[in-house]
Amino acid sequence: MTAPLVLAIDQGTTNTKALLVSPDGRIVAQASVPNAVDYPRPGWAEQSGEKLWQGVRAAIEAAVGRAGGAEEIVALAISNQRESVLVWDAATGEPIGPCIIWQCRRTAEVCAQLQAAGHADLIAVRTGLGLDPLFPAAKIAWLIDAVPGARQRAERGELRAGTVDTWLLWKLTDGALHATDHSNASRTQLFDIGRLAWDAELAELFRVPMPLLAQVHPSNTRFGKVAAGTTALPAGIPIHAMIGDSHAALYGHGVRSPGTVKATYGTGTSLMTLTPGKVRSRHGLSATIAWSTPAGAVHALEGNISVSGQAAQFMAELLGLTDANAVATLAQTAIDTQGVTFVPALVGLGAPHWRSDARGTITGMSLTTKPAHFARAALEAIAFQVADVFTAMEKDLGAELAGLSADGGASQNAMLMQFQADLLDRPVTASAAPEVSALGAAALAFDGLGIATQFSDGGTRFSPAIDPAARAAHLERWQAAVRQTLTT
Ligand code: G3P
Repeated sequence: MTAPLVLAIDQGTTNTKALLVSPDGRIVAQASVPNAVDYPRPGWAEQSGEKLWQGVRAAIEAAVGRAGGAEEIVALAISNQRESVLVWDAATGEPIGPCIIWQCRRTAEVCAQLQAAGHADLIAVRTGLGLDPLFPAAKIAWLIDAVPGARQRAERGELRAGTVDTWLLWKLTDGALHATDHSNASRTQLFDIGRLAWDAELAELFRVPMPLLAQVHPSNTRFGKVAAGTTALPAGIPIHAMIGDSHAALYGHGVRSPGTVKATYGTGTSLMTLTPGKVRSRHGLSATIAWSTPAGAVHALEGNISVSGQAAQFMAELLGLTDANAVATLAQTAIDTQGVTFVPALVGLGAPHWRSDARGTITGMSLTTKPAHFARAALEAIAFQVADVFTAMEKDLGAELAGLSADGGASQNAMLMQFQADLLDRPVTASAAPEVSALGAAALAFDGLGIATQFSDGGTRFSPAIDPAARAAHLERWQAAVRQTLTT
C-alpha cells in the first residue's frame, strides 16, 4: 500500500508553493508559482485576489502532475501569508477591490486616530496586538468605504471578508464555506484571543460590520471538501488544516510546548514561542494564537523584525556587490567587525523597540575599517535583532528559553548561526528543510486525521562557543548603537 499524502499549500507573499508530503515528512513532489505585488502609491501594497487563486490552482496542478496523480492525497492543508485581506461579493465570488496585503500602510492615519483617542490599551488587552496598519481590521473598513454602496451591502450580509486562508477555502469549496482558523483570526485585530470570539466592540471601533466576518474553527478542523472543477484535484478531498505561515513554521519545527523559539529569517525575521496561556506582553511583543485543536487554543508570543535579510541586501548595494550572498561571502573574510556596528533601522525599528522614527546607523568606524567589516556588521545585525526579541520573550515569560530553531534563507549561513548561538548563549538548530511552513501545515493535517507522523528534521546544531565577557562586550556594543539610532 502506498503512503497517504497531504497536499500542503503555502500561499506566501512572493510565491505560492504546493507540496505533497508523506507521514515521514518526505516531499514527494512540489511546485512553486511566483506572485506579483503591486505598489500603487508610496506605502501601499496590494495583490489581485483572483491572481492569488490562479497561482494556487497552477501550483496544485503542477505538483499533482509531478507526483503522477492525486490518488494518495488524503487531505489538503493551507499555510498562508497573514493579515492580508479581501472583501468579495457573496453571490458572485467577485472581490470588490484588491487584496490589501500585510505590508500596506494605507490605514496608518485611522490607526493613529484610534491611538490618539486612547483605544490602544483595550485593543492590546483583547487581541494581544499593538495598533498598527499591518492588521486587517482597518483595511476591511477601507475596502468597503472605497466602493459606493459596499458598506450598506456589507451590513445586509451580501459581502464576505476574509484573510487569504478564508478566500482560498471559499474558492476551493466553490463558495460553500466562509471560515477561518484561530491563528489567522488572532491576527485581524478584531478577535478576542481570550474568549476565542469576534469582538463586537472592536468591530465597532474599526467600523467593520460583523456580518462580513467568517466562522472561526480550530486550525486542524475538517473545514470542508474540495468542490468539483475548482482545481486539478478530484472533488471530495477534505481541507483539513488552515494556519498562518509563521505559526505553521513553529509547528513544522516540532515545537509543541513552551521553551523553544522559532525564527524565520527572511526579508524581516519573525520569532514565535509558545506560552502556557494568554500573556500580555510588556516588552514590545504580540500575543497571538499559535494554533488550535478541538481541545483548545495554544497561545504564543511573537516578535517581528522589519529588516534583517534586507539589511544584507542594503549593504550589497552600498558596497557595490551583486547581492546578499556576496555580502555573506565577503563577511567570511573578516574574523570580526573591528568594532563596526550596523543598526538597520531602515524603516524604523520593529519588535521589541517599535520606533518608526528610528533611522539606520553605522558606528565604530576607524581608518582600518574595510568593506569586509561592513559586510560582517550587516550579518551580525540580523543576529543582534533576533537576540533582542529573544530576550524580550524571556522577560515577558519570566523564564529562560532553551534554544532557537531557525529556518529561512539566512539560517543556512553557518557563520551567522554560530554568532546567533554565541549571542543567545543557547543552542541554535538550523532546519535542513527549507519549506518549514508547508511541512507544519501538513503535520497539522496528519495530526488532525490521526495519522502518525515522523517528521525528523535533524537540522544543524550550533552551540554557544564564546566566553561571557566577549558576549557581554558584543551586546553592549549593539545596545549603544541602538541607543544612538533612537536619538538621531
Ligand atoms: O505576517 C505576514 C507574513 O505572514 C507574510 O509571510 O511568507 O508571505 O513573507 P510571507
